Formats: sequence, C-alpha cells, structure tokens
Amino acid sequence: MLRLRSVGRVAELAAQAEATQATGHTGIAHTRWATHGVPSERNAHPHISGGLAVVHNGIIENHEALREALKADGYVFTSDTDTEVVAHLVEKKLRNTPDLFVAVREALAELQGAYALAVMRESDPDHVVVAREGSPLLLGLADDGCYAASDASALLQVTRRMVYLENGDCAEIRRNGVRICRVDGTPVERAVIESQLSADAVELGIYDHYMQKEIFEQPDALANTLEMVGAAKSLQPGLFGAEAESVLGGARQVLILACGTSWHAGLVARYWLEAIAGIPCSVEIASEYRYRDSVPDPATLVVTISQSGETADTLAALQHAKSLGMARTLAICNVPESSLVRETALRFITRAGPEIGVASTKAFTTQLAALYLLTLVMAKLRGRLDAETEVRELKALRHVPAAVQRVLALEPEIKAWAQLFAAKQHALFLGRGRHYPIALEGALKLKEISYIHAEAYPAGELKHGPLALVDKEMPVIAVAPNDTLLEKLKSNLQEVKARGGELFVFADADSEISASEGVHVLRLPEHYGALSALLHVVPLQLFSYHVALVKGTDVDKPRNLAKSVTVE
Ligand code: F6R
Repeated sequence: MLRLRSVGRVAELAAQAEATQATGHTGIAHTRWATHGVPSERNAHPHISGGLAVVHNGIIENHEALREALKADGYVFTSDTDTEVVAHLVEKKLRNTPDLFVAVREALAELQGAYALAVMRESDPDHVVVAREGSPLLLGLADDGCYAASDASALLQVTRRMVYLENGDCAEIRRNGVRICRVDGTPVERAVIESQLSADAVELGIYDHYMQKEIFEQPDALANTLEMVGAAKSLQPGLFGAEAESVLGGARQVLILACGTSWHAGLVARYWLEAIAGIPCSVEIASEYRYRDSVPDPATLVVTISQSGETADTLAALQHAKSLGMARTLAICNVPESSLVRETALRFITRAGPEIGVASTKAFTTQLAALYLLTLVMAKLRGRLDAETEVRELKALRHVPAAVQRVLALEPEIKAWAQLFAAKQHALFLGRGRHYPIALEGALKLKEISYIHAEAYPAGELKHGPLALVDKEMPVIAVAPNDTLLEKLKSNLQEVKARGGELFVFADADSEISASEGVHVLRLPEHYGALSALLHVVPLQLFSYHVALVKGTDVDKPRNLAKSVTVE
C-alpha cells in the first residue's frame, strides 16, 4: 500500500504520484476541507490503521468518545481529525471477522454524524468498501471498472452510468461487480441512471476559468431553464410537479430556506412573492432556522433553494420544517439526482448545467428565473394575474437570455473599473428594495474571490451607522436601476459623495445618474422592470471576476472554501 499526501492543490499530489512511479489499479483519495485539525499533511487523508486505509467526507460527531475508547484499546492517533477514529474502529472490528464489508458495517453502527466513506486494505487490494450517511456518494459503472465519487461531474470523464447511493447504504466494489446493502446487511437494488450531463459540460473549453465560463453561459443556462415556457401561452403549476396545483394553491404563506448565494435568491423572491403574488413570505438562513424555536403553520409552502442539493444545513432545515408538520415542500435545485430533490413534494430543476467554480453565478440567475416563475404561478392560483399580464410576463421571461447577453457585452468597461478598484481593501455595496439582495450578492462575490472586505447595506440604512466608514479609501458600489426607489437612492449616493467616497454606480439606460469627479457610472442597456434584479447581478459577477484577476487570486478555488458544503 502506498500513501501519498500533500497540502495544496491536487496537481501537487499528481506530481508526487508521477515522481514515485506508483503502480496499481485500486485507490482511494479525498480533497480535505478542514473541519477538525488544521490543513496539514498529517491531517490529510487517507488515514491508516494497520494495513487499512480510509477516506471520509463529513463529520463524525462522536469522535471524541470513540477516540478515548480506541486509545484505551491501545490505538495510537497520528492526526487531529475525526476521520482517524474510523480507520482504527474498522481495524478493531477486523479482529473478529475476516470480511472488510462486515467490519465496516459493524463500525458504522457505532458512528454518529455524516459520512461518505471509502475503505480498503493492503491484504486485499481488489476490494473497496464505501458507505453513505448524510454526505453525497455515487458509483460510476465504467467498462474498465467501478468508481465512487461525491459528485457526478467527477466521473463524467470515465462514465455516464451512475448509481446514486442512499443514506444508510453501503457497497462493496470488487473486480466482478458491486454489491449494495443497508448497514444491517439487507441487500438493496439501486437503479442505474444514465447521466444527462456531457463530459464537455465540465471542460473549460475556450475559457481561462470556470467562473468566467459560467458567467458567460448564463444566456444559455437561462434559456434552458425557461425552455418549458418558451412556446407556452399560459403558465401551468405543473412546472413544479404533478401535485403542484394543490400544494401551491393551498399555501397561506411561504418560507424560503437556503444558504449563501441561494439565500440571496430567496431574498429577491420575497419582494416578488409579496408584491406580485400577494402571499406573505419569510426567508431564513438554513443554519439558523434549523436550530431556532419558530412558530410553524402547516399551510406554509417551504421552498428550499440549492445549487448542489447537498448543502447539509439546507437539508437539515428542510427536515426540521417537515418535523414541525409542514408538508408542502418545494426544492429549487440544479442537480436532479441530489438529496434535496428526493426530499420534497415538488421540485423545479434549474438547468444551468454543472457549476464548477466555487463562486456561484449561473446557478443564482437560474434560481431567480425559477423563483419568478413560482411567483407568477402563485399569483395566477391566487387570482392576481390576468390573462393580459400573463402574456406580457411570459414575453418578458422569454427575453431574459437575450437581455443577459447584452449585459455581458459591458465587460470591457467593467474590466477598466476592476483596474481602478483592485488596490482597495474594503468596499461598501448599496441597493434598495429587491436590489438590496443583489448588493449582498455582489459583496459576497467580491469577498469570496478577491478577498477584499465587502459589506452590503440597504441604502437607506447608510445614515444609521455605516456612513461613518465612508472616506476616500472606502469605495461604494451602488445597484441603481430606474425603479421607484431611484430618487431615494440618489440622495443616499449624495451622502456618500459629500464625504469623499468614490462611487461606482451600476445604473439603467434611463437612470439619469451622470458621471462626475469620483462618480463612475455604467449603464445597463435596457430597463427590465421586476426582472431587473436578475440582470443587475451579472455586471457585479463580472466585476468581482476581473478584480480577482487583477489581484491574481485563485478564482475558481478561493482559499478556505469548498464548492459543496456537505458538512454542518
Ligand atoms: C457563494 C456560494 C455559496 C453557496 C452556498 C449554498 O458563491 O457558492 O454561498 O451559495 O454554499 O450552496 P448550495 O446552493 O449548493 O446549497
């Protein structure tokens, strides 16, 4: 058995493997996102015990108690990770059985927490055991062998035939095939699914970065997501699933649960749902909602939003809502086979294609498109959408991909702004109404990939505190479409200018804000009404991307972040 570990990029490990001229046809590997113990070689996976090796995604919650018990049995720990207990525990079980599959299942019975595990041992290199509870895991069946991974896109280079394991499933992989069973040993069959993703979808192609590719893919991603309304003359609740009419129609209020960028999409949707569909809506960060005592109403439509469909907090928040008696559930998700989609009564799959850059872009705009459709369907079910408005709204939606394309054409001007901006240490983003969440999203994008400290405020809040921060070192970025709040926003911008702050304003063609000393203005080509939030985020994505390029950061893999946050 050969174990190679390194800190940093996978490419470094690949170089190490090449240098050692490692041979063999079975292996397990994991890119660790540190939960217990700093990122270091000694904490890197695989962890070993005797001749046995383990990789693990997730968190073993009872690792401390297990560690103490295993230490008492004489096991010596060489890392600070929770994972190492799994290696020793399976090794201990192997003292009573020669069968690795049995030993792993016995160990699983003692684990609390979340895991996707792969285990193998030196004495039987043609045998790998995998198990899943709370963290994603799927098998890929290729002509030359069997693979296991957390995400389908990791396997597309070798196969499109996938088997999605469910929580509580374990599988043993041998040369002659795969056997799946539950932790108690009961055999189970899981369907083989032909993935609809093509290997090209995960290639960079002509682009330098996935984030850049994904920003520019937005017109197509939106066109695909909205394809079902392409030729439609009317909006049908069935877009959200067979039961949609009764599930959506009977809802008295909406509760949106999500994290990060997906939470921002939910915040925009609140403005739409209340103003257009006339339904009360609250939006909660999933990790807060799951641990707070709230007042449940069974007539609530619970909407979960997630690119990956594997975000641990969002999944747990959904379970929490269901445990409180709220059964009207909808997932808006980009991954059709994900855990989230299997847990809700209704679903809408955004068809953005695989999103690989850690900073979410096309997933966000397609989520917004889905949420706008939801708003219109809810409005119709609630008698608030007349036929004429419906036709007009459908037309506006069909125009969105072309409108985004025109916004993308502003890239050269945005690039020039990025040059002016990259030396800054801090930034303040302002927006009002449904553009406040867009300011939040702009600030999140900037901090994630350029590491510039950025905060977003509803512009009216400025004078209640953050104005104290404004001086010539604190640039202010304003999302300023021509809506009913524009005049108010302009006053807020004057407050900034009067204090020497440099303004970068993303306006509409008709916003009537002019450039002057210390005021930079970029105009989006059209005025998009209710959908302007969807358009106004695009220049902010491009802006962050170009600032990060000037700063030379790792755009697609910003430090400390993971694409799918499958741990709590
Ligand atoms: C930001 C970003 C994250 C995710 C968040 C939720 O660019 O990507 O904030 O939006 O981790 O992820 P999903 O949408 O997969 O549930």
